[in-house]
Amino acid sequence: MEKRTSLIIGASGGIATAIIKRVISQQNSDVIAISRSTTDNIKINSQKLHWLSSDNTETSILSTVKTINDMGIEIDNIIITNGVLHNNVVKPEKRLEDINADQLRHYYDINTIIPMLWLRHLLLNLSLSGSCSIAVLSARIGSIEDNQIGGWYGYRSSKAALNMLLKTLAIEWQRRHPGVSFLSFHPGTTDTALSAPFQANVAKEKLFTPDFVAEQLLSIMTKSDNATNIQFLDWAGKEVPW
Ligand SMILES: NC(=O)c1ccc[n+]([C@@H]2O[C@H](COP(=O)([O-])OP(=O)(O)OC[C@H]3O[C@@H](n4cnc5c(N)ncnc54)[C@H](OP(=O)(O)O)[C@@H]3O)[C@@H](O)[C@H]2O)c1
Repeated sequence: MEKRTSLIIGASGGIATAIIKRVISQQNSDVIAISRSTTDNIKINSQKLHWLSSDNTETSILSTVKTINDMGIEIDNIIITNGVLHNNVVKPEKRLEDINADQLRHYYDINTIIPMLWLRHLLLNLSLSGSCSIAVLSARIGSIEDNQIGGWYGYRSSKAALNMLLKTLAIEWQRRHPGVSFLSFHPGTTDTALSAPFQANVAKEKLFTPDFVAEQLLSIMTKSDNATNIQFLDWAGKEVPW
């Protein structure tokens, strides 16, 4: 069986950690994990996990991509998980009065620009397998059509912009490198630090474990036949309207 290598970016997050554990438990599957965190906080002592640190600036992204290139490995899967909903800089806006420029910029920087910068440098510089499958963690809230309740201006619009960038990239890549497939993925509400303050009104059966979401995502990526080079899917593999 040929060895497969997955690249996971934003590797210390709740969903990313579960994905990494699942992938390295598979036979002949290695992971290159990239995080702001300098140490592997997953505490898995495995030769199959290569932990690289990056602060997501363009200089750091370029040097990380060079490090991966120097490893001489072909990449089969890329999963980008970076995202922020609340931290000491931002919290979801409930109404127009809550909008401010710094907060919007912060959402766009992390949820939209960082994933796109990684894709730019990875796709242009790395050796990817001909049928490389690329998933980026988006959110149903980024669906313009699905927006019935409003609110969360910054998070919502940063994911909508991410989706548009992904779709635009997929159209270009279909011409330049057919075979590479893109997935904009909605994990559902998942029990991680990101959703923790907002879980009170979520029914128990609708709050997923990171492990369940990781299993669903990896299964969807495995089934991807590359016939459609981009899809916006939820955890159940169902299409989400753009
Ligand atoms: N949990 C949910 O209910 C839910 C629902 C819909 C969509 N999502 C999406 O799923 C993805 C993963 O979320 P999660 O639930 O696993 O959340 P999480 O545990 O908070 O992980 C978030 C990830 O984003 C990265 N990140 C956070 N702040 C950052 C910053 N300032 N600069 C750069 N990177 C930063 C971190 O990467 P480092 O390793 O570099 O620290 C971290 O791995 C996100 O894109 C989120 O929007 C989650």
